[in-house]
Amino acid sequence: MQKTLLLYFVLLLVLTFNCTSEPGPEPGPDHPEGTTPIPASTQRSGDADAGYQYLIYGDYVSHGIPLAVFKQVYGAADPDDIGRSGNSAGISFRFNVVAAPNGVQVVAPTCLACHAERLNGQLVLGLGNNTTDNTSDQAANFQAADLAVQFLYGKNSPEWAAYYPLSRGYMAIGPYTRTKVRGPNPADKIFATLAAHRNSTDLSWIDAPQFTVPTAVVPTDVPAWWLLKKKNALYYNALGVGDFARLSAASGMLVMQDSSEARQIDTRMTDIIAWIRTLEPPAYPNAIDQNLAQQGKLVFEKNCAKCHGNYGSTETYPNLLVNLKTVGTDPLLSQTYQTYPEYHTWYNNSWYAQGAHKAQLLPNDGYIAPPLDGIWATAPYLHNGSVPTLEDLLDSELRPVYWKRSFDNSDYDSVKLGWKYSQEASKTDANTYDTTLPGYGNGGHTFGDVLDSASRRALLEYLKTL
Ligand code: HEC
Ligand code: HEC
Repeated sequence: MQKTLLLYFVLLLVLTFNCTSEPGPEPGPDHPEGTTPIPASTQRSGDADAGYQYLIYGDYVSHGIPLAVFKQVYGAADPDDIGRSGNSAGISFRFNVVAAPNGVQVVAPTCLACHAERLNGQLVLGLGNNTTDNTSDQAANFQAADLAVQFLYGKNSPEWAAYYPLSRGYMAIGPYTRTKVRGPNPADKIFATLAAHRNSTDLSWIDAPQFTVPTAVVPTDVPAWWLLKKKNALYYNALGVGDFARLSAASGMLVMQDSSEARQIDTRMTDIIAWIRTLEPPAYPNAIDQNLAQQGKLVFEKNCAKCHGNYGSTETYPNLLVNLKTVGTDPLLSQTYQTYPEYHTWYNNSWYAQGAHKAQLLPNDGYIAPPLDGIWATAPYLHNGSVPTLEDLLDSELRPVYWKRSFDNSDYDSVKLGWKYSQEASKTDANTYDTTLPGYGNGGHTFGDVLDSASRRALLEYLKTL
């Protein structure tokens, strides 16, 4: 009897012990609900100084408008923002003067056409261009330029050969890259359209597009380059994975001959990426109330840091992709890759996706929660630039449906943090941002709505310090 009882207790003990040692409810994932960490991929190293030289003098776009024609039309007296010498002196930072493969000096568009912008009168390298008007068809300008080059040199000239691929590229993308409002950029669409004209294996040009390209453009605000060093994948939807230099080398698709030229661009693009990684955001130029900012830091840590990371002496950045349901911002950019797989399918089978330093475009549901360094300087906000100020971003009821800014880069609103704007009753011209259009929506990201106005004020003050 005693033995049975003892056995019973021993069993009970074993059972109880087993029960308690059984893994309890799964420990929650270490990232917030609705988010997925983006894994890092290996990157090549590069030489930052060489990268800057290549950026402002290099021939990664190797064909362009003959220098003599360019000077006649535009002059050569642009403000010398980047202090270039030689033939490039007095040419806007948006262009490089390069020797085309046949030796003719040409003026070619560069990365800085989209990745540099003036703010409070000063050119900030790496700040996304937010003022260019992409609403018209660029092909029209090239019809005029074609005539000028033919008239001056004739179609059998080296000048025409050095120019023609640029015109051919813009003629192909022109009708497919028109945005509906001034400010946002059609870059995603530029590459999708060029891919339709490139043989995926050797990247040579094909006149008739290989697949249909939809005319709708998904507008994007150009992201600041100084954020790149924290990110594990490129682009708002974390689409670009693998080697970042290889991804950025796609700019060659506009004019290059074929994959032998792509290979040359690819090797030197590693230096540009190395230089981009050295960039720091500009400091907030006006006064900051440090006590208030300190209170705002606590608000940030409680409500925002889990997605956007921590700033200051102990920096962290979680690299999270936030699904559409959770972030709720305009879905078009993320969804377009599901409904239109032609471009990324082409890319993932192409020259760019081969070899040890390959890159891929892998569509996702949602957007990356970006680092917020220098956020005061990068208005307008969200991936489509639909929200003019940080105050509006943090209180969704304030966001204007139709709004208009002067596009004067010194019209900065240091209370609301962003662009001064007027609310409009409807869209009357290209300068009016219309958030009712597909792709241009300003909804979602309501994480600031729960805050009371004092906390929001403090948070805004803190955001000035990032
Ligand atoms: C026509 C405008 C344009 C030009 C020219 C351009 N870019 Fe961009 N770039 C963009 C836009 C717009 C995005 C954001 C696209 C997105 O996320 O969907 C971007 C994104 C990037 C990113 C990723 C940034 C991030 O945080 O995810 C890198 C890196 C980059 N560009 C490098 C370059 C380099 C290098 C060049 C020149 C060789 C270049 N770009 C030329 C418009 C341009
Ligand atoms: C659940 C994750 C999450 C939380 C919490 C969150 N954000 Fe975001 N945030 C995002 C994502 C994702 C985006 C990009 C959305 C887009 O562009 O469509 C974003 C975008 C932003 C932007 C615009 C960035 C730009 O360059 O346009 C700002 C500013 C911002 N968040 C600030 C905040 C602040 C301040 C808080 C706290 C009140 C906060 N966020 C809370 C995920 C989050």
